[in-house]
Amino acid sequence: MPPRLIPLFSIIPLFLSLFCPSFAIRSFPMMTDFIDESNVIFYNNFTEAPVYRNGHECPVSAKNDAGSPACASFLVHVAMTLDAEYLRGSIAAVHSVLMHTSCPENIYFHFVASGSGKPTVAELTRVVESTFPSLAFKVYPFDEKLVTNLISSSIRKALDNPLNYARSYLADILDQCVDRVIYLDSDIVVVDDIRKLWSISLTGSRVIGAPEYCHVNFTKYFSDEFWFDSKLSKVFDGRRRPCYFNTGVMVMDLGKWRVGNYGAKIEEWMEVQKERRIYELGSLPPFLLVFGGDVEPIRHRWNQHGLGGHNVLSSCRSLHPGPVSLLHWSGKGKPWRRLDEGNPCPVDRLWAPYDLYRPFSQHQEQR
Ligand SMILES: *[C@@H]1O[C@H](CO)[C@@H](O)[C@H](O)[C@H]1NC(C)=O
Ligand SMILES: *[C@@H]1O[C@H](CO)[C@@H](O)[C@H](O)[C@H]1NC(C)=O
Repeated sequence: MPPRLIPLFSIIPLFLSLFCPSFAIRSFPMMTDFIDESNVIFYNNFTEAPVYRNGHECPVSAKNDAGSPACASFLVHVAMTLDAEYLRGSIAAVHSVLMHTSCPENIYFHFVASGSGKPTVAELTRVVESTFPSLAFKVYPFDEKLVTNLISSSIRKALDNPLNYARSYLADILDQCVDRVIYLDSDIVVVDDIRKLWSISLTGSRVIGAPEYCHVNFTKYFSDEFWFDSKLSKVFDGRRRPCYFNTGVMVMDLGKWRVGNYGAKIEEWMEVQKERRIYELGSLPPFLLVFGGDVEPIRHRWNQHGLGGHNVLSSCRSLHPGPVSLLHWSGKGKPWRRLDEGNPCPVDRLWAPYDLYRPFSQHQEQR
């Protein structure tokens, strides 16, 4: 095989940017908009984020860190999905993580995007690259065929998006050297140092950590058909009392996950659901079935969920009392939509500082 030629123009900027760091930023106004495979101009609607640098106390590369950049031992791994509808949320979420952590250069983002959707994986990669030029990240295509046959329709259309199920395939999708990951939904902002969340221990056999809500009536997440069939409901036998947890923020031990083959366990429950309606929601109940009662309880400040309001009524929620490290607009309302409509809830003002969206029309006015 002949050696792959590297076009000269791709090297020159690299050299220039080595000697003159600001070159890369200033001389590429066109970097944000680009032409895709089918010759259609793709407009990046996000403005470039400020550069966030490590503090002095940040751990650096160790001797045994050779190999893939994603395998370095000092990294904090974060996984999120990327899709057209929630892109603005994902970009704001990344921005919020970088802004509040003491070691932003040590965060590695693993993005999972639809392998066949629009924007394409290549386009989404360019959006992330041009918005966060020094970000360590990788975009993985998600083969939606993996789950389309397993998804049963739920009460809310948005819950049936195949990408919602990507979180149960992270152990397969991510580089095998990644043993722990923080999974985050796209409708969140982190307002604390994510390294604190990263450093929690998952004790004993626990595979995931998440805040638990034991006052919530757990029974109602499953149908009578489930509870009256002891063959099914005995799944919780031998566990601590299962409590509701939200799968939008999870610390996951991918090493234990791979050994225990938990992805297959989740799929088994999705198969059961196809035959017999045992729950109403989308990707959450299988997680409750597999991990409920065996979750490492994380402090509630790491998932102030429900800020999207009630699923049916357009209602505003306020923050729960106590310290907050992560805000989560779960529910139907999303802050970017409510802000655009000029009808935001008070909590949406807390999301706005992280928003990097500048629609294309505004780009043109700037030029
Ligand atoms: C950017 O905005 C334009 C028009 O506002 C839209 O057509 C395009 O799809 C947007 N691009 C992305 C990546 O959202
Ligand atoms: C919990 O929900 C179930 C099903 O909706 C209901 O039958 C039960 O009475 C509830 N339990 C409590 C303590 O509210």
